[in-house]
Amino acid sequence: MTDNLKKQAGIAAANLAQSGMGIGLGTGSTVFFALERLAERQKTENLKFFGVSTSFSTTLLCRKMGIELRDCGGVSHLDMAIDGADEIDPNLNLIKGRGAAHLLEKIVASLAEKFIIVADSAKKVKNLGEKFPVPLEIIPSALGLAEAKIKSLGGILEVRMAGTCKDGPTISDSGNIIADANFGVIKEPAALCKELDSTPGLAGHGLFIGIAKEAFIAGEAGVEHIV
Ligand code: A5P
Repeated sequence: MTDNLKKQAGIAAANLAQSGMGIGLGTGSTVFFALERLAERQKTENLKFFGVSTSFSTTLLCRKMGIELRDCGGVSHLDMAIDGADEIDPNLNLIKGRGAAHLLEKIVASLAEKFIIVADSAKKVKNLGEKFPVPLEIIPSALGLAEAKIKSLGGILEVRMAGTCKDGPTISDSGNIIADANFGVIKEPAALCKELDSTPGLAGHGLFIGIAKEAFIAGEAGVEHIV
């Protein structure tokens, strides 16, 4: 059922693509359906666009689906970006990074004129932090500093372990350590975002404040289009 909702949201966003566009391509199971729809439109409507990927995971999918990609570092503007989220508050502030792609996702989102979120309605929360901690991406030499900073902000930092496929921490596509900072319910997300932004060696974090301007959120009653 959730997959069907994700699919509806992904399709709705992919239907906004127009020929000639540069499109940021997020990461995750909802974006997967947007990629599928974009690839389909290439074939059935001769849609011409290039994508910029936010992860190895998305790059591999694009190769399989025949979506042309450009290197993120060589691009200074995108017409739109489509991405998923782990939590969405009523102001379209987000927590992202379950899949450890949040650093590249934020770079790509910041290149885009329109950053469009695709999700099922279970991602909606009243306050960020209700269900998920805030993912971090930390330059290895700054792990101690990041730990101290998160503690001073009232949070608890836990390095994210890679699991059964690798010993030790999860390493991001950019070679940094992935950790999660649990602050409980976040009452002032903008203030926390500012603090995290100003921590040396914290290469990225999963609080996306004021970046998303549009969302397709699919629920039992249909797809809600928030603009
Ligand atoms: C990747 O690191 C994340 O930011 C994803 O975009 C987010 O977790 C949403 O993924 P799903 O669409 O799979 O829920």
